[in-house]
Amino acid sequence: MQPASHSKISRPIVLTGDRPTGPLHLGHFVGSLRSRLTLQETAEQFILLADLQALTDNAGNPSKVTSNVMEVALDYLATGLDPEKSTIFVQSQVPELAELSVLLMNIVTVSRLERNPTIKAEISLRGFDRDIPLGFLAYPVSQAADITAFKATVVPVGDDQIPMIEQTNELVRRMNAICGHQVLVECAAQLSAVPRLPGIDGRAKMSKSLGNAIPLGASPDEISKAVRKMYTDPNHLTVDTPGQVEGNVVFAFLDAFEPDRHALEELRAHYRRGGLGDSLLKRRLEEHLQSVISPIRERRSLMARDRSVVTEMLRMGNERARSRAAATLDEVKVALGLSYF
Ligand code: TRP
Repeated sequence: MQPASHSKISRPIVLTGDRPTGPLHLGHFVGSLRSRLTLQETAEQFILLADLQALTDNAGNPSKVTSNVMEVALDYLATGLDPEKSTIFVQSQVPELAELSVLLMNIVTVSRLERNPTIKAEISLRGFDRDIPLGFLAYPVSQAADITAFKATVVPVGDDQIPMIEQTNELVRRMNAICGHQVLVECAAQLSAVPRLPGIDGRAKMSKSLGNAIPLGASPDEISKAVRKMYTDPNHLTVDTPGQVEGNVVFAFLDAFEPDRHALEELRAHYRRGGLGDSLLKRRLEEHLQSVISPIRERRSLMARDRSVVTEMLRMGNERARSRAAATLDEVKVALGLSYF
């Protein structure tokens, strides 16, 4: 045990981020935004808008990425992320990340990158076949730079990102071995404790491009319509027939948004027994969604009117992120002997 005067109470360093390819939706809220609100109180949190990473599979359409940086930043602020507590920044504005990527690229092989299961799945999903953009294949390296530049120890991610964390830690060990001492820090993935929110159509993932999402800026009417359209149990034809809870989108949403857990258990049992209609359930869910989204929508539209506040916040975040990333990059360059003058 160290004497009290030596013990340093250091908070974990968290790095997390999103590709800015569209405004955020309730799936993001449940999967990551809610936990970031907690983390900004308990950890030192860096949140990156991964515009460069988004370009790796949108190279021909840069405006899809650039136009959404502001949208996602608005979503962050509207949800209650606080730029005083979390460092929110834009990847392309921190060139140190690109420089660190270049150094990391020498210690990974093309075949290792091709074995990354997430990359493999994305290659077939996007139909790249053998024509894989180099930047795309290398994005796990760039993501490793994002994480290690801040010496992040905790990376909250979905399970599809676990291969990225493994790859990051391999790079950390290799780089430290070459440097002869610990310069970069290994990290751990923190998986969300709440199940992923399905799309309103019942598909496993809520996604803007699938057209089954409820955006964080949704109007009361849009919320209402989305809930009415929600997939339930197709065999639950009358109120009295027993209904199925599994795969029922309304119950998946109630799981995420119903504060009264006891009442939820009763609703589930009642639905299974029969005698509980979809419309009653949907009304209850709609009330919850309206009250969750309403303050977010209002803050969002208020801030959207004066974007200079958002721009200023990002400028401050970029500056803070740059100085941290520059310090790490400098350590690596010194350790490698890239410090001539
Ligand atoms: N790959 C993440 C996504 O697709 C975004 C991302 C970029 C990220 N860099 C990161 C996430 C670093 C965590 C840590 O959503």
